[in-house]
Amino acid sequence: MAFFTSSTQDIPDTASIPRHIAIIMDGNGRWARKRFLPRIAGHKRGVEAVRDMVKQCDKLGVKHLTLFAFSSENWRRPSDEVTFLMGLFMQVLQREVTKLHQNNIRLRIIGDRTRFDANLCAQIEASETLTQVNTGLTLTIAANYGGRWDVIQAMNAMQLAKPELLGKFEEQDLAPFLSMYYAPEPDLFIRTGGEKRISNFLLWQLAYSELYFTDTLWPDFNDAELQLAIQSYQQRERRFGRTSEQLTASEQHSTQK
Ligand code: IPE
Ligand code: IPE
Ligand code: MG
Repeated sequence: MAFFTSSTQDIPDTASIPRHIAIIMDGNGRWARKRFLPRIAGHKRGVEAVRDMVKQCDKLGVKHLTLFAFSSENWRRPSDEVTFLMGLFMQVLQREVTKLHQNNIRLRIIGDRTRFDANLCAQIEASETLTQVNTGLTLTIAANYGGRWDVIQAMNAMQLAKPELLGKFEEQDLAPFLSMYYAPEPDLFIRTGGEKRISNFLLWQLAYSELYFTDTLWPDFNDAELQLAIQSYQQRERRFGRTSEQLTASEQHSTQK
């Protein structure tokens, strides 16, 4: 099992191209409403934006792309929209997984699967198994995912596996049980659609991510929009708690070596 530097335990390596981008793909409904179309038309167009983003991130050398597709709170939506979204998820998995596999992309799904029907669970497992040997981009889809659910499920799993840690466990004990144990923490978080909130996405993992918010609606989020987000990321000074002066000093030190 791979272990990555925790941003709160140590200073992670940084690079000009983010190694991990996590996106809240918001604004599908508003995109449709602007065109007098039903909300589901926005979700369909959203899938096209996903396809472009996967291609683009792979090309740029991003190692992990994590997309929020359905939150643990999205069950509160009208049942016909929920049913449509579940069907769309199934369809996209069936239709796209071969292409992902041909492109050396590894697919992973995170979230609580207990509310999915058996067919969807089987399709998820088959897609993950087919692509598990791939070494290119890892595409993670968060479906019925909630940041609080993640921390709670990790605690329960850790308690079962290591009961002796009860009452004295530390960050590094919990980390292997979190949903994204296999990836470094997101360098860049993007939310489209204008809202400035996390909406229970990767609460633990976003501790030191750079946050980027854009009014662009998800179906309109294209390569140029991604470039803007990455450019903004490249201008950030990632201090991880240190002072600016310390950063400059450590950079000088490393270039002298
Ligand atoms: C995001 O778009 C997709 C999902 C949450 C499934 P929305 O459906 O939230 O679109 P808006 O926010 O209503 O425009
Ligand atoms: C967040 O979007 C979840 C996904 C994009 C899957 P929402 O549209 O559900 O978020 P809120 O309700 O505006 O916070
Ligand atoms: Mg929304």
